Amino acid sequence: MPSFITPVPPASCPNVIQKPTVISMVGLPARGKTYMSKKLTRYLNWIGIKTKAFNVGEYRRAATDKYRNHDFFRQDNTEAQAIRQKCALMAIDDACNFLQNGGEVAVLDATNTTGERRKLLFDIIQVKNKFKLFFVESICDDPSIIEANILEVKVCSPDYIGMNKDEAVEDFMRRIEHYNNMYESLDHNKDKDLSYIQIFNQGERFLVHKLAGHLQSRVVYYLMNIHVLPRTIYLTRHGESQMNLEGRIGGDSDLSPRGEEYATALARYLENEKIANLKVWTSELKRTKATARHVDAPVEHWKALNEIDAGICEGMTYEEIQEKHPIEFAMRDQDKFHYRYPGGESYQDLVARLEPVIMELERQENVLVVCHQAVARCLLAYFQDKSSGDLAYLKVPLHTVIKLTPVAYGCRVEFVSLNIEAVNTHREKPKNVEAHRSNTEALETVPDHI
Ligand code: SIN
Repeated sequence: MPSFITPVPPASCPNVIQKPTVISMVGLPARGKTYMSKKLTRYLNWIGIKTKAFNVGEYRRAATDKYRNHDFFRQDNTEAQAIRQKCALMAIDDACNFLQNGGEVAVLDATNTTGERRKLLFDIIQVKNKFKLFFVESICDDPSIIEANILEVKVCSPDYIGMNKDEAVEDFMRRIEHYNNMYESLDHNKDKDLSYIQIFNQGERFLVHKLAGHLQSRVVYYLMNIHVLPRTIYLTRHGESQMNLEGRIGGDSDLSPRGEEYATALARYLENEKIANLKVWTSELKRTKATARHVDAPVEHWKALNEIDAGICEGMTYEEIQEKHPIEFAMRDQDKFHYRYPGGESYQDLVARLEPVIMELERQENVLVVCHQAVARCLLAYFQDKSSGDLAYLKVPLHTVIKLTPVAYGCRVEFVSLNIEAVNTHREKPKNVEAHRSNTEALETVPDHI
């Protein structure tokens, strides 16, 4: 069938990975391994690298209800040792299956605290399966960090249902002791052929050994930028603009009178929040700068925060796009994340453009980001761990502040409407994309001057 619709290649392929990789955590319990595993998995998926975490503790809980107390982790508890070994092997096996079936990175979230266990990982992952293996060891000797970790996440673990908090803390400390008796840290001499990073006291110091390839550099860069200090990120779109009123996309118009009202209300809201050392980031477009201008905090303008470039459709209404570029309109509905406007960008391009923004946000504390609908969707998808399929349809209403606060292993998301009317710019995912598909297929057969 003659076709003038050619698939759109990505702008670049920065995320192509040569060989699947297992990232294996190492460290005593309560050293932030699960926190790092989950965060890294979320980040890698967001930048388009198919990643999954495998938590050995979860395998153990699914396999047995024999956990009564720390005795389960004693070295002389042979019955429990056998269960633990079996669970570790199941997780390794599942991780390898994931990589054999299209997965790109498997994160093995387990203690892996002995040289013997790491040798087993090396033999299965690198020798037998020919995957890459990268160890991330978290070393922490600061009792306040360990205690905070136990209180924040461990006492709420399914292992401690029905146990009071003090008993759970005591039991967990004794569990750590059992591991500590056998713990062998990665060693510069013994492990000279392994690739690894050692992270001391949650990022106070790092030691990187034998990095092998682009992915590992990227992982190291990310791990060196994240922190666990309490903070809040405030995310908002600009106030309603003149072009929003006309239903037009893109452009660089001024705020509408209601948009101006929002700019004033936003400054008042932030003042009431009494945020220490707030920084403000806007795009380089007039409507975000105007929205942030009453906020009493230092402002930076990022080109990377500019709205998605709609190419030949800039400044049009959706109705005009549908009328003038019906094929483009239908193609976008079929795969909004990957669809690139001719002469413009796709959501996938936008994620690549926003990666430095995410990296810098990870380094910062309290920040207000004033941006645009598509940009806010991409940023929100990172914090909410949304798939690329959902990302392009996330609801980000005008005149609403989205508060993002890190909690335990995730992020609390609160939508705070400042109660100022605005147009609704959200276009729902079409119910019947198949109908659009056949519409597109029909159009594919018509001459290309239409
Ligand atoms: C656990 O069973 O909770 C932890 C497993 C491990 O040591 O990796």
